[in-house]
Amino acid sequence: MDPPSRFEDPRAATNGDNSHVSKKLKLSFINESQIREEFAHHQPGIARINNGSFGSCPASIIAAQKSWQLRFLRQPDDFFFNHLQRQITHSRTIIKDLINADHVDEVSIVDNATTAAAIVLQNVGWAFAEGRFQKGDAVVMLHCAFQAVKKSIEAYVTRAGGSVIVVHLPFPVNSDEEIVAEFRKGLARGRANGKKVRLAIIDHITSMPSVVIPARELVKICREEGVESVFVDAAHAIGSVHVDVKEIGADFYVSNLHKWFFCPPSVAFLYCRKSPASPDLHHPVVSHEYGNGLAIESSWIGTRDYSSQLVIPEVLEFINRFEGGLEGIRKRNHDKVVEMAQMLAKAWVTNLGTPPEMCPSMAMVGLPSKLEVLCDDDALNLRSHLRDHFGVEVPIHCQVPRDGEIGAMDGDGCVTGYARISHQVYNTLDDYIRLRDAITQLVQDGVTCKILRRK
Ligand SMILES: Cc1ncc(COP(=O)(O)O)c(C=O)c1O
Repeated sequence: MDPPSRFEDPRAATNGDNSHVSKKLKLSFINESQIREEFAHHQPGIARINNGSFGSCPASIIAAQKSWQLRFLRQPDDFFFNHLQRQITHSRTIIKDLINADHVDEVSIVDNATTAAAIVLQNVGWAFAEGRFQKGDAVVMLHCAFQAVKKSIEAYVTRAGGSVIVVHLPFPVNSDEEIVAEFRKGLARGRANGKKVRLAIIDHITSMPSVVIPARELVKICREEGVESVFVDAAHAIGSVHVDVKEIGADFYVSNLHKWFFCPPSVAFLYCRKSPASPDLHHPVVSHEYGNGLAIESSWIGTRDYSSQLVIPEVLEFINRFEGGLEGIRKRNHDKVVEMAQMLAKAWVTNLGTPPEMCPSMAMVGLPSKLEVLCDDDALNLRSHLRDHFGVEVPIHCQVPRDGEIGAMDGDGCVTGYARISHQVYNTLDDYIRLRDAITQLVQDGVTCKILRRK
């Protein structure tokens, strides 16, 4: 019932490049039918092309998680005193190697990106409360920052007297340069009002619309412009783009492990760069370990189920069953999602929202203008309609051009709706064909979002 003992050996930590995998193992990569078995618990008959929202967890990891849960339940006292902390440290060491951090103390394991944002922004709130920041000092964010992050800014920064500089992300977008130009404009606005920019929050991959942001370049600009610290919200990153925290150079970097890294919900890592000026960060849930450093505080926030943090070694074993390990999975997903996006755009005579190199393992595909996706409610109604009537799980984004902007056009009008498709190892061509045909049928039947509103 116990997970195999090799998972407890911290020396088993690897850098995810598969170099530790023996020749013999390399000859027996996971095959198609084994992949099907690993995801056989997925509801049959559903085209699940939304890995981006909630991720996915293979059966072997669900089994490993159950095994950890039973181990705790069988003898909690022994588990708490003799195993839990050591295992969490082992998980942190694996992540440290994967993301190229210098030290395991820089890596905390938390529940999710939402918790990480609260950790960072709570610290900003204290700086206002303790008089280290002055009223009106600013936080910079992209206009399409994740809603939970925006709410955290409202709760911890605006309420404490801080101001917010919003940088507009152009979309559809053609190049990194367009994003860099908007970002520079945002920082200039911050400087113009004479206030200090205390924190920039930069997405590595925005959620809606999904775009890979030139995070490394934006961090560099922040340094040049005297922004005090930088938090990269990379909720979608690990397993979907290459992650090297030293290369990116931010002070704080969070990625969920339950999105593209096959962990069960919910688990994320928060990297906090060690420096002489490292801030005094704390977990928002205060427990026995308060004051012992964020990583230690985070590893005990009261009695709860820690199993999603403990399966990280088994997840790495699962990932390394695929040719090329994490990088191999990432590259194949990227190539496939671009191929599928291009197939859909061709069928609907529309466009992709970004060039292929700005797609992670997700892509934005323009929907026919005839569907008339004109507001966020339309997008949500269409998403629900596709799920309820066609068995397709896919988020829909609405982007109406702002004044002076020219949106993308199809033969009938302006493209204002986009499907955000994902590709993960379990997806097949049929999933995307189902979406293609559902949209084609809606258009043929003259269905618009206005009609769906009345339903
Ligand atoms: C960019 C971004 N930030 C933060 C989050 C929040 O992640 P979680 O719900 O796991 O906390 C998400 C979730 O999709 C996201 O896309």
